[in-house]
Amino acid sequence: MMKTVKKFLTLFLLFSPLLPFAQTIPLLTRSNALVLRVDAKKRINISYFGEKLSKEAGYTQAPGMYRQNEDYGDILNSAYLPAGSVNMFEPAIAVVHGDGNTSLDLEYVSHSTSTISNDVSLTTVILKDKLYPFQVKLFYKTYFAEDVMELWSSISHTEKKPVLLNKFASASLYLKSPEFWLRNYHGDWAKEMQPEETRITHGIKTLDTKLGTRANLFQPPLFMVSVGKPATEDEGSVLVGSVSWTGNFRVDLELDNQDNLRLTAGINNYQSAYTLKPKEEFETAKFLYTFSSRGKGVASRNLHTWARNYGMVDGHGSRMTLLNNWEATYFDFNETKLAELLKDTKKLGVDLFLLDDGWFANKYPRNDDHAGLGDWEENKKKLPNGISYLVKEATANDVKFGIWIEPEMVNPKSELYEKHPEWVIRQPGREEHYFRNQLVLDLTNPRVQDFVFGVVDDLLTKNPDMAYIKWDCNAVIYNAQSAFLTNQSHLYVDYVRGLYKVLERIRTKYPTIPLMLCSGGGGRVDYGALQYFTEYWPSDNTDPLERIYMQWEYSYFFPAIASSNHVTEWGKQSLKYRIDVAMMGKMGFDIVIGKLPAKELMFSQQAVRVYDSVKNVIWHGEQYRLSDPWSNPVASVQYVDSTLSTSVVFNYLVNNRYGQGSAYPVRLKGLDANADYRLREVNLFPGTKSPVDSSLTYSGDFLMKVGFNPVVRSGRNSVVLVVEKVK
Ligand code: GLA
Repeated sequence: MMKTVKKFLTLFLLFSPLLPFAQTIPLLTRSNALVLRVDAKKRINISYFGEKLSKEAGYTQAPGMYRQNEDYGDILNSAYLPAGSVNMFEPAIAVVHGDGNTSLDLEYVSHSTSTISNDVSLTTVILKDKLYPFQVKLFYKTYFAEDVMELWSSISHTEKKPVLLNKFASASLYLKSPEFWLRNYHGDWAKEMQPEETRITHGIKTLDTKLGTRANLFQPPLFMVSVGKPATEDEGSVLVGSVSWTGNFRVDLELDNQDNLRLTAGINNYQSAYTLKPKEEFETAKFLYTFSSRGKGVASRNLHTWARNYGMVDGHGSRMTLLNNWEATYFDFNETKLAELLKDTKKLGVDLFLLDDGWFANKYPRNDDHAGLGDWEENKKKLPNGISYLVKEATANDVKFGIWIEPEMVNPKSELYEKHPEWVIRQPGREEHYFRNQLVLDLTNPRVQDFVFGVVDDLLTKNPDMAYIKWDCNAVIYNAQSAFLTNQSHLYVDYVRGLYKVLERIRTKYPTIPLMLCSGGGGRVDYGALQYFTEYWPSDNTDPLERIYMQWEYSYFFPAIASSNHVTEWGKQSLKYRIDVAMMGKMGFDIVIGKLPAKELMFSQQAVRVYDSVKNVIWHGEQYRLSDPWSNPVASVQYVDSTLSTSVVFNYLVNNRYGQGSAYPVRLKGLDANADYRLREVNLFPGTKSPVDSSLTYSGDFLMKVGFNPVVRSGRNSVVLVVEKVK
């Protein structure tokens, strides 16, 4: 009986336009809708998620089309599930009020939408607890053209005593489908971005990290949820998401008793219960996602466009090619050697020389990774005339100069550690445990923030011509304890906030200097950090065969312009193969130019010129993943410029078994079907001939329906084609 009354009431409320609180809040982008609905109990729910409907009435009708199990608390689809009232599932928020009470029931108060630009709108929903003066603001930022959403929240109260936040997610989404598939990533040093794809089963799957600093070492905050069946490049519905937080994140994917998927994402609450004072605002990280009902390709291009427009520094700008000395010299260099490398930089034809680790510290010289970190004065033995001399030398060689730093870290064998043990994150009573022989500085402390800012500021003030900084971060946080904080459970959150404060200061003073985000490989890339950086280092593993897979996976989330790809000695492939792979992003070199045989040097110089002619297509064009290395002997990736007049197609043999190669043509994408194109092979190694006849023309229609065979096979295992519209 009760059940029937309840059902009747639900239907009545659902279809009654007159009720004050039965209102929908559609959050729309070009193709998608996330619809919030305030129910009769003034709770804010997600009533629709997916492709946009042509009539808004559909959003009110859609919930009635489901006949699922009972929602006992009428709260399963909450947009921000609180713990402690009628909720039985993974909450977005859990608190202990000032008086010790642990309940929370959030009621809708109001909402408003502000237009930020033609493209961007921000909807703010205010929720309040029924009993306590406790408030949550939910933010929904829509990027219309890019089909991207950013969701976060802000928590505050005016209770008499502080409130303990035990969980404080950015947001929750609620998706309905008979099946969900998750693609997530795991890894380790040199093994970043290893994908796994599995069907989501009932219960909770948590993606998270507890590493603190280089938080993504084992798991990045990047994932995809396919709705119905695993999405392919061009088919299927898929949400591609990420948490914009340069530290401990947590994503919970919970399939509940109704078989719906609750996705709750944000900062990890692990060891991080946050004591919130009255009137203080706790702003969460942003949860970023795009949704595509036309496969992963569209989703990734949405994110690329969004990133270039909003998500990174100088997304529409240029980048410098470079020569790095890390693998060429490691710590073993001096002024004379570097002067030679500056000449090599010019000889190679790249824009910049990047001096890596090992240039600093005197009392405990940085001659290996056991000492010196933290002492950022030039090592007098190696560099008697200092960095400024090298910057001048670079200018004299007509190249720019960049430098490596790792300012958040310290070796115990350093003057910094001796002078300021209280700046180091460690448990004084416990044995120190090191990651790469180093410890992390306590960025919650404003004096440490000043110090870290000072490392960059000093270099740039003394050397105004310095043109590039590689910002590294090799250690995780062990023995998490701050001598500065009184409340230790604020450490992980306040560390990241401290880092952002420093980066904000750097960007305010130096808005344009290129900064590379590195973390002992790819241990740190996320959109929280990229708002301060121009590029990231995907992995120390630069074996091109490995990079084909890694760059493929990273490319679902980040645009090619952000991917620093260096040509090194890793791997067994030819120099050509290595250079071709490095071109699919922001190219650099880390090899000994002086040791290259004449033909290889000539080839490298020519490749730099080829790259200069096509780099804008790669950086600013649309990317299409044509042939998947995980399931084909040939991997193919294409970039097309916005006028559809130039395209670059990279093809690699990834299977060395007998007779493997491009048996079938590779179907191109994104071209103008009505235009004619010519294809020419570039990056030909001196002395080799191409079977590609560049005098022939093919229609875009042909190239997209039949395709083109790049003739990839053993002995021709890397083929780069430039496709140009015939004028
Ligand atoms: C990390 C980086 C490398 C290099 C070294 C220097 O491992 O990923 O590229 O800069 O540090 O110590």
